[in-house]
Amino acid sequence: MTAPSSRGPLNEIQRYQQGKSALPGHEAPLKLSSNESAYGSSDAAREAYVAARDLLHRYPDGSQTALREAIAEVHGLPAEQIVCGNGSEELIGLVVRCYVNPGDEVLLTRNHFVMCPIYARAQGAKVVLAEERDDVVDVDALLRAVTPRTRVVIVANPNNPTGTYAPRADIARLVDALPEDVVLILDGAYAEYVTEEDFDDGATFAIERANVVVTHTFSKIYGLAGLRVGWAVAPPAIIDTINRLRTPFNVSAAALAAATAAMRDQAFVAEARRRNREALDVLLPGIRALGFAVTNSVANFYLIDLSTVAGANTADAVMHLEANGVIPRPAGPDGRLRITVGTPNENQRVLELLAAYRAGLS
Ligand SMILES: Cc1ncc(COP(=O)(O)O)c(C=O)c1O
Repeated sequence: MTAPSSRGPLNEIQRYQQGKSALPGHEAPLKLSSNESAYGSSDAAREAYVAARDLLHRYPDGSQTALREAIAEVHGLPAEQIVCGNGSEELIGLVVRCYVNPGDEVLLTRNHFVMCPIYARAQGAKVVLAEERDDVVDVDALLRAVTPRTRVVIVANPNNPTGTYAPRADIARLVDALPEDVVLILDGAYAEYVTEEDFDDGATFAIERANVVVTHTFSKIYGLAGLRVGWAVAPPAIIDTINRLRTPFNVSAAALAAATAAMRDQAFVAEARRRNREALDVLLPGIRALGFAVTNSVANFYLIDLSTVAGANTADAVMHLEANGVIPRPAGPDGRLRITVGTPNENQRVLELLAAYRAGLS
């Protein structure tokens, strides 16, 4: 039997590997592999989710009006320039499918969200990577990598898996220098965590310019990863194009209801942001005190370079953590160790395990 042949570019794609969630021998392992929220989701979101069960026989609102209006109010954006997706990954994928032809180039940073090259390659496009400077997105390197074939540039800010951010001034420089026919996606999956004053998500560019799309997700600080909801703010013509390709009911009724309530509960978001910052302030110095290098993360995860200690490496550290019931994730092009921020007790456990790993080396 011969299988029907799929489109050529699909043969080049390596399947996305989900963060591990089970460990043999551990009934309830501590899963710190997928940058999920340590603080669950807002009560209001869960109540709205439960209430939605009474209308499960109805199709969802394909125009996503209530959720778009809630986002618009909270973020001070025009509701008609917002579109919601089945996770923000769907929206990133839709933009790539809308604007990228075979032979075009999609420009990413060296560290990037791993679905981005998959979407680009599926279009038959070439993936171009720009170097970073000290694990931070380097706008000059990105601009040097732009060619006449570049159609889409994707910058996650903060980036994954580094957790570092590019300040507003750098993003403004990128926006100003990019040719107008290149779409810039600013992926703000972790933007809500950032407390630094010189950061913003770039949404004003999506309003003022014709070529900037900013994406956000309910999967991270809102703690609704299982529901699959993301949103984007974009210029009217891009919103119109996305809406031509988007399946009309891409966000389920329960997801719309829960996300709308979650968006209106900004007190929950502020508390999660505060707790995450507090956790980073313990974790990052704690890891450095052990001799390991760790990125200056402002997100809900951090990336450890174990090679700063003689004899240490990612594979052994993963083995040590997993043997003790903690699941981290090797991540990025140079295989460092990415760990999600947990509760204070969970973070303490990680620090203790890393200290034990370190002690076992000498
Ligand atoms: C940088 C980045 N962008 C986008 C996403 C997609 O998130 P979702 O599709 O759950 O909204 C993720 C998920 O981990 C991410 O890390």
